[in-house]
Amino acid sequence: MIEPHGGTLVNRVNTDYDFSAIENEIELDLYALSDLELIAIGAYSPITGFLGEKDYLCVLNEMRLCSGHVWSIPITLPVSECKASSLIEGEKIKLVHKGTVYGILTVEEKYRPDKKVEAEKIFQTTDLAHPGVKKLWERPEIYIAGPITLVTRPPKKKFIDFYQDPAETRKSFKMLGWNTIVGFQTRNPVHRAHEYIQKSALEIVDGLLLNPLVGETKADDIPADIRMESYQVLLKNYYPKERVLLVVFPAAMRYAGPREAVFHAMVRKNYGCTHFIVGRDHAGVGNYYGTYDSQLIFNHFTKEELGIIPLFFEHSFFCRKCGNMASTKTCPHGAKDRVILSGTKVREMLKNGEAPPPEFSRPEVADVLIKGMKMSLQNK
Ligand code: ADX
Repeated sequence: MIEPHGGTLVNRVNTDYDFSAIENEIELDLYALSDLELIAIGAYSPITGFLGEKDYLCVLNEMRLCSGHVWSIPITLPVSECKASSLIEGEKIKLVHKGTVYGILTVEEKYRPDKKVEAEKIFQTTDLAHPGVKKLWERPEIYIAGPITLVTRPPKKKFIDFYQDPAETRKSFKMLGWNTIVGFQTRNPVHRAHEYIQKSALEIVDGLLLNPLVGETKADDIPADIRMESYQVLLKNYYPKERVLLVVFPAAMRYAGPREAVFHAMVRKNYGCTHFIVGRDHAGVGNYYGTYDSQLIFNHFTKEELGIIPLFFEHSFFCRKCGNMASTKTCPHGAKDRVILSGTKVREMLKNGEAPPPEFSRPEVADVLIKGMKMSLQNK
């Protein structure tokens, strides 16, 4: 079994924690709540709390923690200036969301980030039209740092059957007899290009961890519950049951392209994956990143310090002349023969009740998405 990042799988869950004597509290947004849970269950190992300034700056400037471990996305807890001034260094505070205490944090530090620098380093832009930059600016201005304990598990809602902590996926892989596992991150339905690269990877490893992100995404992404239904229909009809494990990744999407690709890989290593798929414009949005920047960024690190093996795939599509799925690496034909649709175009078609061509999306998947989108529009 692959070692967790940093050597030890962090476990900071203690649902018996007695916090009755702790008075001060801060309200978490959903984004921070998901980070709290992911730290506690070891998905962010070796991180044990929200980052202090030294680690934060190392992550920004060197894509590493001060310990030297590869880490490309800062895990921070922003609070308002007013709230920050009420917190005393050394004290324990409750981390609350809508009346429920989810965590305890020992305040080690408070600091003011330079958000412009953070945006430039992490997102490579300060454009407020970028959803990650927008989010950064919407959140409060002071970062609180310190180790955490998760005292209540956030509700798993509709995804209860698809939750496994890193310790559990590791056990599952063992039980399934898989030695090599490829992780697949997605915030989208699985279309045929995704299927093609997953199955290409499956040719060389024992199993696939289909690990869709179900935390906060931008408003026009397809809601996670609809996506989850589409994954199940796809797996049932087109994948060998004994080679795929569907488990949700309850993180918020950052849209940080290359930086997020490295982060996604490190997290999947903690879940026990030995390989990780990075395709075209991984975690990208709009035209902020080059098509293969998310692959090139891995050149900054040695194989040993990454631990997990990134599997890079070229832009894939159905080619009518080839009569099959292919990529720019394997197909000699031109654009006019290739079935390529933008995410925006596909979402538009689905909203209008129109199925994308079967060369792009499996009809069973398109059906679920059309029905789901119709229901979600009616409920708005
Ligand atoms: S995201 O989480 O990376 O934003 P998305 O669903 O768009 O999700 O992509 C999931 C993975 O599939 C990423 O590694 C991405 O690079 C890859 N990918 C998506 N579409 C293609 C494609 N047509 N060809 C090759 N790789 C792709």
